[in-house]
Amino acid sequence: MFARRSLVALGLVATATAAPCDIYADGDTPCVAAHSTTRALYDSFSGALYQIKRGSDSETTTISPLTAGGVADASAQDTFCANTTCLITEIYDQSGNGNHLTQAPPGGFDGPDVDGYDNLASAIGAPVTLNGQKAYGVFVSPGTGYRIDDTTGVATGDESEGMYAVLDGTHYNGECCFDYGNAETSNTDTGAGHMEAIYYGNSTSWGYGAGAGPWIMVDMENNLFSGADEGYNSADPTLSYRFVTAAVKGGADKWSLRGANAASGSLTTYYSGARYSGYNPMEKEGSIILGIGGDNSNGAQGTFYEGVMTSGYPSDDTEASVQANIVAAGYAVTSLTSGPELTVGDTISLRVTTPGYTTRYIAHTDTTVNTQVVSSSSSTDLQEQASWKVVTGLGYSGCFSFESVDTPGSYIRHYNFALLLNANDGTKQFHEDATFCPQAALNGEGTSLRSWSYPTRYFRHYDDVLYAASNGGVQTFDATASFNNDVSFEIYTGFA
Ligand SMILES: *[C@@H]1O[C@H](CO)[C@@H](O)[C@H](O)[C@H]1NC(C)=O
Ligand SMILES: *[C@@H]1O[C@H](CO)[C@@H](O)[C@H](O)[C@H]1NC(C)=O
Repeated sequence: MFARRSLVALGLVATATAAPCDIYADGDTPCVAAHSTTRALYDSFSGALYQIKRGSDSETTTISPLTAGGVADASAQDTFCANTTCLITEIYDQSGNGNHLTQAPPGGFDGPDVDGYDNLASAIGAPVTLNGQKAYGVFVSPGTGYRIDDTTGVATGDESEGMYAVLDGTHYNGECCFDYGNAETSNTDTGAGHMEAIYYGNSTSWGYGAGAGPWIMVDMENNLFSGADEGYNSADPTLSYRFVTAAVKGGADKWSLRGANAASGSLTTYYSGARYSGYNPMEKEGSIILGIGGDNSNGAQGTFYEGVMTSGYPSDDTEASVQANIVAAGYAVTSLTSGPELTVGDTISLRVTTPGYTTRYIAHTDTTVNTQVVSSSSSTDLQEQASWKVVTGLGYSGCFSFESVDTPGSYIRHYNFALLLNANDGTKQFHEDATFCPQAALNGEGTSLRSWSYPTRYFRHYDDVLYAASNGGVQTFDATASFNNDVSFEIYTGFA
């Protein structure tokens, strides 16, 4: 009796600890690509998960799991990135096939970075914990994308494949296309059936599901499918989970769309059946994309924590075991802020710390957010132009927004990467543009205010005007010289 119980217990433990790619291998549908910045996706994997590059000296390093099969060593990243900015430059393939994701090149659409490449993601935009251990996801702002065109082992033509991804269900938009999966090798739209990728967001341009979105759909090129038909399919639900598992598979004249709360419970099948007319047989090309469409459409946003692609059509049972492992990984939210704490309801002033400019405070003139010399003997009008009420972040409650004291109802927001003072128009776009996450100042003096929606970008004064600037980006106000000082502000009540 005792021996039998312990055997059962061992069996359960073994099932619970098998990592996603060990489970897929057991099901004879092995991973051909496995990407994650948060954890190893094989029990035995102890190699590099991802590479980061820091702004201070352009050096790179790799981040590995703390133990074989374990969670990423986030503290190694924090140490490497101290007092500077870091970008995720490469997301390694754990499968051994070398299908590493790097900065996506231009295609049907150009990206915003040098030579039409897409932007790279900030390394700190998507912190989470896995069973209490900190790790970082890939926070994709519009314009950000990763890709590999020349892959090994990924399905082509009408071959079968499966894939899943764990995403942030609350970070999305309606633009094209926050995808992870199989796409064109030419970075251009080569027609219906040339892609098979997970899509997440609330685009209604092609397919859509019940409610207002966001939905998991499948990007098969020139269409996002939410079910059997193009356009509306009522069985594809709006999801409101913080962590979402999306599971998609495609074979000869069949495909399936499944989803779940990645933090509990099991997968629900939203569609399983035949291909829509014009999509059979498929003409998959076998490149892998993350955060973009197959033609490098790059207007979408979302967050990716982990995902894989398999060869063969995984069984529902295999996917159920993978979902159980994801739940057991224990994804949970953690703070996006650090450094001096801001208190909702306080009225503050923010003084420049760049040597030679330290009598200047963040102020506004009409809609332009700028710096002005302010002191306790300045006019009341000027003092009010340079005073900001701290409110709960309009777009994310764990961060903050800054309401004008002399123009109540107007907030600092970024627009074309300039900071403007605009009235809150109540839209999701405005709320996100007006949300900033304080972190310990890059130069150690006060706070640096990072955009929630573009975490590579910070409040920066440049020629006495405020921008949402990245460290070493393509705009003049992104200059690396003086970046740390220009993004660091002392927080006061009133003026010296
Ligand atoms: C997506 O949802 C947001 C917030 O509800 C809304 O403002 C936006 O118009 C939606 N986009 C589309 C394409 O429906
Ligand atoms: C680096 O940042 C820490 C934390 O904000 C700060 O204490 C320190 O002074 C900074 N060092 C430099 C050289 O800026």
